[in-house]
Amino acid sequence: MSNISHKKKGKPKELMDLPGVGPAIAKKLMEAGYKNIISIAVATPAELANAADIGENAARKIIEAAREALDLGFETADVVYEKRMKVGRITTGSRNLDKLLAGGIETQAITEVFGAFRSGKTQLAHQLAVNVQLPPEKGGLSGKAIYIDTEGTFRPERICQMAQAIGLEPKTALKNIIYARAYNSDHQMLLVQQAQEVVEDENVRLLVIDSLTSHFRAEYPGREMLAERQQKLNRHLHMLQRLADVANLAVFVTNQVMARPDVYFGDPTEPVGGHVLAHVPQTRLYLRRAKDNRRICRLVDSPYLPEGEVVFVITEEGIRDP
Ligand code: GTP
Ligand code: MG
Repeated sequence: MSNISHKKKGKPKELMDLPGVGPAIAKKLMEAGYKNIISIAVATPAELANAADIGENAARKIIEAAREALDLGFETADVVYEKRMKVGRITTGSRNLDKLLAGGIETQAITEVFGAFRSGKTQLAHQLAVNVQLPPEKGGLSGKAIYIDTEGTFRPERICQMAQAIGLEPKTALKNIIYARAYNSDHQMLLVQQAQEVVEDENVRLLVIDSLTSHFRAEYPGREMLAERQQKLNRHLHMLQRLADVANLAVFVTNQVMARPDVYFGDPTEPVGGHVLAHVPQTRLYLRRAKDNRRICRLVDSPYLPEGEVVFVITEEGIRDP
């Protein structure tokens, strides 16, 4: 169960190294897109059983072995500490916002930004996809970004503009962003599974999903479907969290929230459909528009940072301080 006493020599590196995976099962798994140990480790027993035509119990054992190979079980606190020391941060482009976040968007975590339309969620996503490419001394992680776009609002020309403004070659900046359009919620989840295959080879340090929730809302409307939707979203988020942990990358997701004119007391921007995301993402940012090109960002939820509010602006060059 625990990894404490399981630091064996020959750790599994390939699918066939996992107990219970012979050539036939390995082939089926590969064909279904499970090409490495990470992808197995973050799968659910039902998914894997289905992919390899095996029972769920057998699938569960394979997943456990994969997790153990990646040290995803118990560990001693010094190992946790060591891992925390590896947390990287990506600058947002605004010093105010960075200060609120103690340096920027964190790896090994999911950051959710929610807010009404035009509040700046997509702009922030673009900016992070550029900034992650900067060297650490400039607030980046010298890495690439995966950008999953569900609404068709990704703009490469905006990336060029933002890159140029911070001295990155626009063409290189574009090449360092691995883009996919997700056409429905299943496709979106499949893309995250596929992302697992490229994160290590490509040195991906940021995964953006803009927006996390739009397909889910459209496909599971109404109260009757709420439970099903939440369950699926939860699975999606847990997969993202494990990917963030295993690959030490930052996950940044957006979530549109409609202002509710019927609510006069309390928070008028209660997430439509309840608090499905409230329990999974570690850091939640609430964006709202102020006058001119100003935006107010409130940190509403974080495991260790104090709540607070800052102002930033969206300029031609990107996210900046007023
Ligand atoms: P939805 O996806 O509709 O929910 O909105 P969002 O929160 O993603 O908003 P988005 O990030 O797309 O913000 C759009 C706003 O950013 C615009 O209304 C502009 O104010 C600002 N913006 C976008 N591009 C530029 C630009 O090139 N220059 C400047 N100055 N502002 C820009
Ligand atoms: Mg948007």
